[in-house]
Amino acid sequence: MLKKKNKYVVAVAGATGIVGRELVEILEERDFPVSDLVLLASERTEGERLDFRGKKWTVRRLTKDSFKGVDIALFCAGSERSLEFAPAAAASGAVVIDNSSAFRMDPKVPLVVPEVNGDAVEQHSGIIANPNCSTIALVLALKPIHDAAKIKRVVVTTFQSVSGTGKKAMDELAGQTVALLNFADVKTEVYPHQIAFNCIPHIDSFLENGSTKEEMKMANETRKILGDDSIGVTATAVRVPVFRCHAESVNIETEKKLPVNEVRALLAAAPGVVVFDDPSRNIYPLQIDMTGKDDIYVGRIREDVTVSNGINLWLVSDNLRKGAGLNAVQIAEHLVR
Ligand SMILES: NC(=O)c1ccc[n+]([C@@H]2O[C@H](COP(=O)([O-])OP(=O)(O)OC[C@H]3O[C@@H](n4cnc5c(N)ncnc54)[C@H](OP(=O)(O)O)[C@@H]3O)[C@@H](O)[C@H]2O)c1
Repeated sequence: MLKKKNKYVVAVAGATGIVGRELVEILEERDFPVSDLVLLASERTEGERLDFRGKKWTVRRLTKDSFKGVDIALFCAGSERSLEFAPAAAASGAVVIDNSSAFRMDPKVPLVVPEVNGDAVEQHSGIIANPNCSTIALVLALKPIHDAAKIKRVVVTTFQSVSGTGKKAMDELAGQTVALLNFADVKTEVYPHQIAFNCIPHIDSFLENGSTKEEMKMANETRKILGDDSIGVTATAVRVPVFRCHAESVNIETEKKLPVNEVRALLAAAPGVVVFDDPSRNIYPLQIDMTGKDDIYVGRIREDVTVSNGINLWLVSDNLRKGAGLNAVQIAEHLVR
């Protein structure tokens, strides 16, 4: 349990990555009560200095002893590091908020989107999981619809930016784009295929059932967060040549009929959701417009007439903010409240 204090010692494991850097910025922006900041990463970046509140903070190497005196440990250094170091952080008294998929489906670990199931935070026993970036945006839109009309089935296709893979993938998209515009050969290291000017229907590894891990994460995590195993979720996850922000095309079938204007009103009233939907003026959410935004944006809201109670919508969210760093900081805010 976190002891109530005026200010907290906060560690960021993976501080030099794109999520880690965003996290540090968000802690500053939201004036999180930090008494000391412990920045951790690999040997590679040991000694680098990052800005926080007008001062330079030195990055140290992540070890099992890094967490003495730490109250809250924000992990964003990949699943392997979470599995290796998060239990040690929790054992030394820190509450871990983990951005990786390592503990998300562990029944003892709450999987939290504060606007949807914030109270689940109370059930933690040292580790709280931050959901998958596309799942966070999806459940924010599904929650008000599920509460009003009980969702039976969701068919979702994602259009995920390369920042979802980390900083090396952003460099790969930039490098390939420059190479192709200069009629040079492209180097492919992060993805199995060229990502510049291309879409790849493959995120994370394939499972025996033909789906990818990313697709199954979206299905399983959605049910866990909404607390309803009866919801059918089928996902196709696609990587697109966009630097930042994920988009999703979502088809929802409900038990009760919900007229489109009611869906629009429910979404407009939902915390963390903005309805951005006026096709007559070409207004709908675009990935290039949503960088740095905290809310998720929903548009193209319309009836699916091919089923009795169907809705289609399109949503866009910043994967590095609500999809990662912001949601983690909001969990921390919930903890200290
Ligand atoms: N990107 C997203 O949209 C997103 C969204 C939700 C969740 N996540 C999760 O957040 C985590 C980080 O993702 P990212 O996109 O920020 O990746 P990234 O840019 O590649 O950053 C990875 C971070 O982990 C550190 N790291 C790697 N190996 C390490 C080791 N052996 N010991 C200590 N630190 C190590 C890196 O340190 P060095 O700089 O020293 O190598 C860096 O700080 C992942 O678990 C990812 O699944 C990402």
